[in-house]
Amino acid sequence: MTNIAEDIKIVLEFYQAMGVERIPIMTEQKSRRAEEQKIAEKEVSYNVAPISKFHLTSEQKKSALNALREEIGDCQRCKLSKGRKNIVFGEGSIDAEIMFIGEGPGEDEDIQGRPFVGKAGQLLTKLIEKMGFKREDVYIGNIVKCRPPFNRDPEEDEINACSPFIRKQAEIISPKVIVSLGRISTQTLIGLKIPIGKLRGKFYQFEDIPLMPTFHPSYLLRNPKDKWLVWEDAQKVLERLGK
Ligand code: URA
Repeated sequence: MTNIAEDIKIVLEFYQAMGVERIPIMTEQKSRRAEEQKIAEKEVSYNVAPISKFHLTSEQKKSALNALREEIGDCQRCKLSKGRKNIVFGEGSIDAEIMFIGEGPGEDEDIQGRPFVGKAGQLLTKLIEKMGFKREDVYIGNIVKCRPPFNRDPEEDEINACSPFIRKQAEIISPKVIVSLGRISTQTLIGLKIPIGKLRGKFYQFEDIPLMPTFHPSYLLRNPKDKWLVWEDAQKVLERLGK
């Protein structure tokens, strides 16, 4: 055996003796991607002032959200602005205990300028009510605020241009739990490119807010047999809220 192979064997035996069963290996490609993502995040710089970590009063939250909406203005930061009818800022209680974050507006949302008002929205509203809330009690937003053409997934440059705003909304509202709906929302907020089927059902952290990923309501419209999984995730959220 060569010296290197012997060294590796000794190290692996050591880990095995310590009870370690798997050693994650970061391939060169993966580590390059992680590096690129970090750089892209740093490059996005916005004027929005950092929010104090201290508790904001409802009045302060309201004016911070208004200031944020003004900052967005008649946004032309990405190509989605070309085809939109309305910017869908987000809506709900500024004192919400739960914030639901989806991917981006569809046709109905684009027309009405409100999040989750189409078929997927009706299903989300049912879930919210089944959890014991009214729709007005929670806050609902999206990763991108303008409709992607033909409801395609938002692209990376669009997500990078827009997601600082929903992050800021979450910081301002400071809910007790965030529920991220679907792959795009979850991967954007927690920064892990892992399939939603693997991520859902466990708590992650967004800033210092617990985040529960679950399936997107549009997925449930296509796969109603998986509704029980979303209900399981919702129950974990309720437990976390002490309900
Ligand atoms: N899908 C989303 O992700 N968001 C909406 O607002 C509507 C549908």
